Amino acid sequence: MAGTGVVALGDDSPAQPAARTISPYGEHQPGIAMAAPAAAELVALKLSTDRAGLGRLMRLWTSEIVALTEAGRRLTVTVGFGLRAFELTGQRPRGLDDLPVLSHDRLQAAWSGGDLLVMVGADDTLSVVNAVRRLIAGAGPYATPVWRQTGFWDGTGPNGEPVTGRNLLGQVDGTGNPAFGTPEFDETVWSTEGRFTGGTTLVVRRIRMNLDAWDELPEAAKERVIGRRLDTGAPLTGTAEHDDLDLEARAADGRLVIPENAHARLAHPSENDGRRIFRKGLNYLHDTGTTRESGLIFLSHQADIAGQFLPILARLNAVDALNTWTTTIGSAVFALPPGFGPGGWLAEQLLS
Ligand code: HEM
Repeated sequence: MAGTGVVALGDDSPAQPAARTISPYGEHQPGIAMAAPAAAELVALKLSTDRAGLGRLMRLWTSEIVALTEAGRRLTVTVGFGLRAFELTGQRPRGLDDLPVLSHDRLQAAWSGGDLLVMVGADDTLSVVNAVRRLIAGAGPYATPVWRQTGFWDGTGPNGEPVTGRNLLGQVDGTGNPAFGTPEFDETVWSTEGRFTGGTTLVVRRIRMNLDAWDELPEAAKERVIGRRLDTGAPLTGTAEHDDLDLEARAADGRLVIPENAHARLAHPSENDGRRIFRKGLNYLHDTGTTRESGLIFLSHQADIAGQFLPILARLNAVDALNTWTTTIGSAVFALPPGFGPGGWLAEQLLS
């Protein structure tokens, strides 16, 4: 039952203050068409059950999710199926396959793969930690964790307004995404494929950053790596964050203002036959004793991984200026089933 303050996804106009809770119900899983949460944990699990057991787990998680989202501060739970889960449900969504290992990848098994994914996001870490504990404890007879990743994102400005947020390299990150509620967003993200309609896919890449080497770089050089300014996130050819990139503009000396190997050029839809993805980042820190590793849990949603994400990734792997400071150490792909309504359950379309 929806309590006071619960809103259905899509009812939330941007001018209103953020609702305290987010409805668990809808055509899509509700955590997807949202900005990155302040606090998040992702857990990948290995399945140790059959099709009927997976169905029982999905029903169990559905009731947990309804209870958790009514209690947590803007808490969302997003569930994904890895390739092994589709051996139990039947046909995989189009384009869902393991990513090839690219030349610049240094993948570690400890951060890669998984048969199931559960991702919890909320305004506060405590809600996330408690929710994850309950969901994982409930999964016990059916699935056990193989990796866990925690991350954070600060998408709130000084006056409480939503802002794009920054990664640990100090860059404004997320500007070039399709805007929520536009046909462009819907076409980029949601599947229209049979019983998977309303679902999407998710690529999770754990990308380590070499912050010490990055710090050595002068500011102007850092800006040329992306093709955008560090202070505002504006393109080097514009003045405001959301100005379009001018990929043809040249400086007085004839050089391209946004260089040939700049990340934002190489990833731009106009350089990728119109291909788009919807990205979210979660900053991560991983401390071992006094040694700290920093990086980005890079999350990409698209209807079709092979058709949209992979060609962009392959291009960036080959020539992206950013590769000098970043190394992908984990990789996993999941299909996120459509959402459920009252009385329904998660992945019912795939399992009943
Ligand atoms: C740690 C790794 C990465 C960092 C630090 C990073 C950072 C950035 C930054 C600062 C921007 C410009 C602002 C924006 O539009 O969001 C950007 C844009 C973009 N990045 Fe990344 N990125 C990373 C990895 C990736 C990967 C792996 C992909 C895809 C395979 C990707 C795809 C894109 C796309 C599609 C854009 C928008 C281009 C546009 O439409 O203008 N990025 N990234």
